[in-house]
Amino acid sequence: MNENKKELLRVEGLKKYFNTPGGLLHAVDNVNFSINEGETLGVVGESGCGKSTMGRAILRLHEPTEGKVFFEGHNILEYDKSKMKQLRRDMQIVFQDPFASLNPRLTVSEAIAAPMLIQKMYTKKDRVELQKQVSRLMEMVGLADRLKNSYPHELDGGRRQRIGIARALSLKPKFIVCDEPVSALDVSIQAQILNLMQDLQDELGLTYMFITHNLSVVKHFSDNIVVMYLGQMVEMAPTELLFKNPVHPYTQALLSAIPIPDPDYPMNRILMKGEITSPINPEPGCRFYKRCPYAKDCCKNPNIGLKEVEPGHFVSCERIGDPELKENPNA
Ligand SMILES: Nc1ncnc2c1ncn2[C@@H]1O[C@H](COP(=O)(O)OP(=O)(O)OP(=O)(O)O)[C@@H](O)[C@H]1O
Ligand code: SF4
Ligand SMILES: [Mg+2]
Repeated sequence: MNENKKELLRVEGLKKYFNTPGGLLHAVDNVNFSINEGETLGVVGESGCGKSTMGRAILRLHEPTEGKVFFEGHNILEYDKSKMKQLRRDMQIVFQDPFASLNPRLTVSEAIAAPMLIQKMYTKKDRVELQKQVSRLMEMVGLADRLKNSYPHELDGGRRQRIGIARALSLKPKFIVCDEPVSALDVSIQAQILNLMQDLQDELGLTYMFITHNLSVVKHFSDNIVVMYLGQMVEMAPTELLFKNPVHPYTQALLSAIPIPDPDYPMNRILMKGEITSPINPEPGCRFYKRCPYAKDCCKNPNIGLKEVEPGHFVSCERIGDPELKENPNA
């Protein structure tokens, strides 16, 4: 991380467990990281590893089971309802499926105006000013003004996601959780939305937590990356380091699955075999144990946790440094 930058968000020991009929589901289990102002933290991992739950727990859309979330130095988990309502302006979310997150009965301009009315940034008396702000936001996200009276079902996925982004921006936030914002879009539109989000970050100094299951998406977008497996962080590093020197066998497997458009580059895809450990009352020790090609008895150590392997690069693996654990099978 850039040391001259100011820390905006810090998450300490964050846990979110769900009570399920089968037992306690450890969706997010002791997560720790920080994000500096104006930077992007990419969060990657397979479906069900707890990415969305973590994003929601940070925003208190899910009440965390344990831990601390510091925003501008204050633990927001201690905030009462009225302080949380104020904080909503600073911390926003963009969802994966813009169609599901938009009210089908609201026009584009109504949908964009709604958060500003709820937050009382404008009243109904300020109708003209509010409409001007809606137009400004539409321009900012590249939506033509003529679409103001359209309904979500009349628009394509890319335009609907632009509405989602305009709604998030309408409250002038400092921090946005982007939860798979391009995964539901056609590949051709994904790049447009990613470019838009990057331009808005530069223009407005936004800080992002960018959740995706696709490592190639975060590669060009993130300053740092967190890799999650079954609710836990298994590796965290500045983006360049993570791609150059992935240490955790799970990260290595994820990276090996990215196609490289170079015929001379040897593809050496690591296939993950074995059953996935259940997130319900998981056994102590490494949760990747049953799928890891390097698993040994020592990996059942219940105190397994992140260790710094080089400056800023953290890995949770009992066999770090063991010559048998190949540093990068694709190198
Ligand atoms: N409300 C809930 N009640 C019970 N279990 C839940 C709830 N929400 C999520 N989970 C469980 O928590 C775990 C993490 O789910 P989550 O949606 O956070 O994963 P994800 O990484 O975002 O997955 P995806 O990539 O599919 O979006 C999963 O096992 C999921 O079934
Ligand atoms: S701790 Fe053991 S099982 Fe877990 S990733 Fe490391 S080598 Fe594999
Ligand atoms: Mg999710």
